Amino acid sequence: MTYQTIRGFRDILPPQSDAFSFIEKISREIFTLYGYREIRIPAVEYFELFIKSTGETTDIVQKEMYRFKDASGRDLALRPEGTPGVARAYINNNLSQTGLNGKYFYIADMFRAERPQAGRYRQFEQIGAENIGASSPYSDAESAAMLAEIFKRLGAENLRLEINSLGCPSCRPKYREKLISYLSSQKDLCSSCLQRLEKNPLRVLDCKIDGPKLTDFPSIELCGDCAVHHEKFKKCLSLSKVDFFENPKLVRGLDYYQRTVFELKTSSLGAQDAVAGGGRYDGLIKDMGGPASPAVGWALGADRAAMIIEKRWGEFEKKSNVFLVSADKERGDYCFSLAQFLRSENISCDFSDFSLSFKSQMRSADKSGALFAAIAGEDEEKNGEVSLKNLFSKEQKKVKKEELTEIIKRSL
Ligand code: HAM
Repeated sequence: MTYQTIRGFRDILPPQSDAFSFIEKISREIFTLYGYREIRIPAVEYFELFIKSTGETTDIVQKEMYRFKDASGRDLALRPEGTPGVARAYINNNLSQTGLNGKYFYIADMFRAERPQAGRYRQFEQIGAENIGASSPYSDAESAAMLAEIFKRLGAENLRLEINSLGCPSCRPKYREKLISYLSSQKDLCSSCLQRLEKNPLRVLDCKIDGPKLTDFPSIELCGDCAVHHEKFKKCLSLSKVDFFENPKLVRGLDYYQRTVFELKTSSLGAQDAVAGGGRYDGLIKDMGGPASPAVGWALGADRAAMIIEKRWGEFEKKSNVFLVSADKERGDYCFSLAQFLRSENISCDFSDFSLSFKSQMRSADKSGALFAAIAGEDEEKNGEVSLKNLFSKEQKKVKKEELTEIIKRSL
């Protein structure tokens, strides 16, 4: 019997794994530039947390949770997203009292039991940023511009930032009424939309199942404050030279959003076109029992980000600079010590097996893509030398161990 991965779970191998590291590295650099610090939150939380925050009527909570009881009967779940855990941590650790800004980022795996397809996995990595305690539209623009900057530095092309405003508790109820009466007049709503109609009518706009084309749906009339907020958000995106498109149908799949929402979309991933999404969630922390704390944030899907920079994966292939080769079996210790010496000098090196034939070791050296083979036989060892062969020009010369670092570094 051989063991297989579970459907929706997968191994991420080089060079794709290097692409993930690259995306994480660029993200960390940008987070530092914007004053965000890292937060690490548990992968397992009480199920209740997600009902309260992600939302009872969302697909995530209703259909996609990895929910389980532990040995003592607690009702737990693997996190499907990072925002609830960060909000809980903010409250539990009294982070509003630190006097510091509430900017936190996380790089963590999330779990959703969705139907797997290209770009959609049951375990996936999110890189997320939350700015808690920030109410101004400058913070919305800062957050979205930071996201755009990450993708710019990744060299991702053909992305589109879509934005919308969902209003606030004062302008939303009126819109809800209008939407319900409009949607009730539509024929052919799918069965889950019929259920959503009463509980969460906004979500009907986001239905992915073929139904009626909701073209003439009513648009939200923002209250004065929300309208000013939205205009300022757009102005600041322009000041940041970030292109954006208004999409009145953009409602997002989570319950906590108010006012600003945004999504970064790609044309290269088929149905799974969102590489990142986020928005403002001013009511969440208070609803969860914390201090009133407006907040804005987003998360990007690292798996999808890695896919859209697939053209660059070749750059991530790692090659050693030097490949050690022993001319005979007795030279193993000498070659091994040389390898450790070179590494201590920050020169990457590798070897196969010093007990193999010279020819076989040279074959591995050629395959490795290393610039040099460092070959040692009895003479070399006696004189504290090594024969350095450039595997591309085929030039070979004997060099003293003391000169090795200098010569190699000069050619890199
Ligand atoms: P979300 O839109 O559910 O938002 O997820 C953010 C991103 O995670 C998506 O745009 C997508 O790239 C990626 N993603 C989601 N599901 C999968 C999957 N099954 N496979 C691969 N990638 C996936 C949130 O999670 C919010 N917490 C974002 C946020 C933070 N809003 C405010 N703060």
